[in-house]
Amino acid sequence: MSEELSELARRRGFFFQANEAYGGVAGFYTYGPEGAALKRNVEDAWRDRFVTREGNMEIDSPTVTPEPVFRASGHLDDFDDMLVECPDCGESHRADHVVEDNTDVEDAESVPTDEVEALIAEHDLVCPECGVSLVGQPVEGFNLMFETTIGPGDGDPGYLRPETAQGMFTEFPRLKEYARNQLPFGVAQIGAGYRNEISPRNALLRTREFTMAELEFFVDPEDDGPNLDRVADVELPLYPVEAQQADGEEYLRLTPQEALAEGVVAGEWVAYFLARSKQWFERVGVDMDRFRFRQHLPGELAHYASDCWDAEGEVGGDWVELEGVASRTNYDLTKHDEHADDSFTVFQAYDEPKTVERATVDPEMSYLGPEFGGDAGEVADALADLAARDRSAFDGEEVTVEVDGTEYTVPTEQTGFEVAEETESGRHIVPHVVEPAFGVGRAVYTALAHSYETDEVDGESRDVLRLPAEVAPTTVGVFPLMDKDGLGERARELAADLREAGLSVTYDDSGNIGRRYRRQDEVGTPYCVTVDYEALEEGAVTVRDRDTTEQTRVPVEDLPTVLTRLRDGDASFEEL
Ligand code: GLY
Repeated sequence: MSEELSELARRRGFFFQANEAYGGVAGFYTYGPEGAALKRNVEDAWRDRFVTREGNMEIDSPTVTPEPVFRASGHLDDFDDMLVECPDCGESHRADHVVEDNTDVEDAESVPTDEVEALIAEHDLVCPECGVSLVGQPVEGFNLMFETTIGPGDGDPGYLRPETAQGMFTEFPRLKEYARNQLPFGVAQIGAGYRNEISPRNALLRTREFTMAELEFFVDPEDDGPNLDRVADVELPLYPVEAQQADGEEYLRLTPQEALAEGVVAGEWVAYFLARSKQWFERVGVDMDRFRFRQHLPGELAHYASDCWDAEGEVGGDWVELEGVASRTNYDLTKHDEHADDSFTVFQAYDEPKTVERATVDPEMSYLGPEFGGDAGEVADALADLAARDRSAFDGEEVTVEVDGTEYTVPTEQTGFEVAEETESGRHIVPHVVEPAFGVGRAVYTALAHSYETDEVDGESRDVLRLPAEVAPTTVGVFPLMDKDGLGERARELAADLREAGLSVTYDDSGNIGRRYRRQDEVGTPYCVTVDYEALEEGAVTVRDRDTTEQTRVPVEDLPTVLTRLRDGDASFEEL
């Protein structure tokens, strides 16, 4: 983000470092009035697209989460970044970033820590803060979760959630009931996530507390996919692994159907959500000429993902991750099924009952007991598992199973092995998950960066945010030409009427009209209404369009409808 835009963000109240009165702490930002309104509108647009229009559910789960959840999910063991500390100034750095920023290595995150240490030595890398050599400094995994205790005294260990997703997974046993056990279904959540970043940077791009908008879409991988005809004309700018490894920056431009047919994207739901995501990013003001979907390189994948495409926007010459569309397979629900008390499966009924052959055992415990003592029960369980897995193991005179590294051999006739026909009306499956996960602050930041322009109006330079009307913090600025002769009262009344109609309105009577326009241009207000003497006489006001600076007159009684239609994209200013 340019210096000018950062300055504007602070001065006009989009965002600024939090707690500055106490010196501030890196990685925490406060959204000011303009930024909070913009962020809320972006979240509303997300909810509209990924909840309402998709028919998904939305939940709101706690941010403080007990430790067993993250033991099951793998975050306790695997949610690490690489840390290297400067031996002189003590500053902590992301070791992979130090390598990426100073060598040709592009994906140091996927390189093992000992090799990153070797790269630091090979390139003689130094502390970005003070310039002292980092050679020989240990590179270690650093878990990014903020730890806390729940309750007084020693309490129980807990963590601030690093993703909202676990809320959807841990509540799955209830959520599947609300979905009447019918797959596919989606559950979304917009809320705070926390990561104790080693080196927060780039304002809203890498913060320690941030808002996520995540959809967990639960599917039966063997079942029907989405209706791709609904997104048939969306062209996806795709940057797959092969193209990255070939060192090219050539993107494939394919529709979802083409991407699937050519094997570039695996999975219909992934292709579908890539298309919906692209439409949404365009809607909230991300420039589609500075946008792409980049597939994760194998070493870059999170511990739960089998594949992932990041939506990325270009800001200041760097590509910024805005969203990940991940295939989480049945990893999370399987883990919670293993660790928690409830069932994380869904019963999928067949259209017609099926006759299936099932291999079972009924071991002779009067043989297993004396033979194997206290291990007899486990041997019986192992025989049952083996029968389900590999019935040919029971073809011979004896069958051997392993329990805790010890082999037990049982005569087949003592196992009660048999294959019988059964009628099945359905099956229990652990659903797979496709996850479009958005960083709201990053979308806000990128929309700001892509909408910010300096142009010239009437021979004067102006800063303007060309934000889409739907997400702009304020929709209408209302100005009296002057605050006299009843113009001020009329304009204030008009502002109140427009607010009553559900529009976001600001009233301004200070300074000349040109200056008031500039103030609204730089916070992205798409329309300004001026109440002049003709307005009092004729009942019509001047409406001015931010982007073209063109003006037109609109009868006061039509104004709420006209402005609402303009905001919602149901009319264009030219049509007026
Ligand atoms: N849930 C996706 C992420 O944590 O990035």
